[in-house]
Amino acid sequence: MRQSRKLDHLNICRKMADGPGTTGFADFHPVHNCLPELAWDDVRLDTEIAGIHLRHPLIINAITGGAADVAAVNAALAELALTTGAAMAVGSQYAALENPEVLGSYEVIREVNPGGVLFANVGAHVTPEQACQAVEMIGADALQVHLNAGQELVMPEGDRNFSRYLEHIAAIAARCRVPVIAKEVGCGIAREQALALTGAGVRAIDVGGRGGTNFLAIEAARGQNELEEDFLAWGIPTAVSAAEVAAALERRADLIVSGGVRSSLDALKALIIGGQAVAVAGPLVKLLNGAGPQGAIAWVEAFLEGLKRCMVLVGAGKVSELAGVPLVITGWSREWLTARGVDVTRYAVRPS
Ligand SMILES: Cc1cc2nc3c(=O)[nH]c(=O)nc-3n(C[C@H](O)[C@H](O)[C@H](O)COP(=O)(O)O)c2cc1C
Repeated sequence: MRQSRKLDHLNICRKMADGPGTTGFADFHPVHNCLPELAWDDVRLDTEIAGIHLRHPLIINAITGGAADVAAVNAALAELALTTGAAMAVGSQYAALENPEVLGSYEVIREVNPGGVLFANVGAHVTPEQACQAVEMIGADALQVHLNAGQELVMPEGDRNFSRYLEHIAAIAARCRVPVIAKEVGCGIAREQALALTGAGVRAIDVGGRGGTNFLAIEAARGQNELEEDFLAWGIPTAVSAAEVAAALERRADLIVSGGVRSSLDALKALIIGGQAVAVAGPLVKLLNGAGPQGAIAWVEAFLEGLKRCMVLVGAGKVSELAGVPLVITGWSREWLTARGVDVTRYAVRPS
């Protein structure tokens, strides 16, 4: 069942468009700087997440593993990570914790990219021992713990009990030799849960917000069950979730912005909001399937070049300097953030 599910996810994702809910990035407007006072060659893209140095802020997010048939996809993603210097997360490793026969579909990632930055991935229901096993399986530099209640509830065979997750995560963080990253898979993370997670020892939050790959829609398509149209837009838009979490954390933990990050400009906005990195999943599945490995490499390279161009235009020579760039927040996102107690004018009048 688990093996065919991983194949279904890839096949449905290849055909399915993002949305219908939007990311909110359209409401976020970086302020142009006509006096950047730096040269193209001065711009550095390297960054840090949970003390781990990344060559640039684009992470290949968790996608797959757990079936013989997906090993080739993981090998291609690992090649992409190797060629472009991207950090990479593996798909949920629970399948291999249950069935060692599928270990190879994960281990291939470390074989292809021995020196790369890799993130392991488990659900919040695993024991601390299983979490450590997942880390060792691929020699991971960090561990992602995914939070996906929405997806599970739409899956006919999904989990129905989400109690004591925070306690599990605290036990995993206390036991694990690498930093723990908590991530959603498309419904976003609110301020309250971000604070609870960091209180439990999580070192970085990946908001996994609404507006990109839609796991409610993917699971509904898999199970051939119809979901109400308005429920398909459930979740916190990515940019709004990022702004809530950034304001709440005040740099006590790092922030990865993901869920519908599709362009250099989205990435620029995400980093100005307060992220240290962005992560992308669905587009890479589609690119590998359509344009192939060279097309995927070209897309990542153009994305990074575009980010560099945007950084010059806001006068930021380093990723960390983006947190001081003024950003005007308008429309629905402004209303949401104001209602949630985030001071949007603080963004607009930076640096103050
Ligand atoms: C085919 C596919 C499989 C995925 N499997 C996992 C998974 O096993 N574990 C996980 O944490 N996230 C998984 N994700 C979610 C992504 O890591 C990411 O959070 C989500 O797709 C939103 O990012 P995007 O809009 O850039 O795709 C998967 C995504 C895709 C497209």
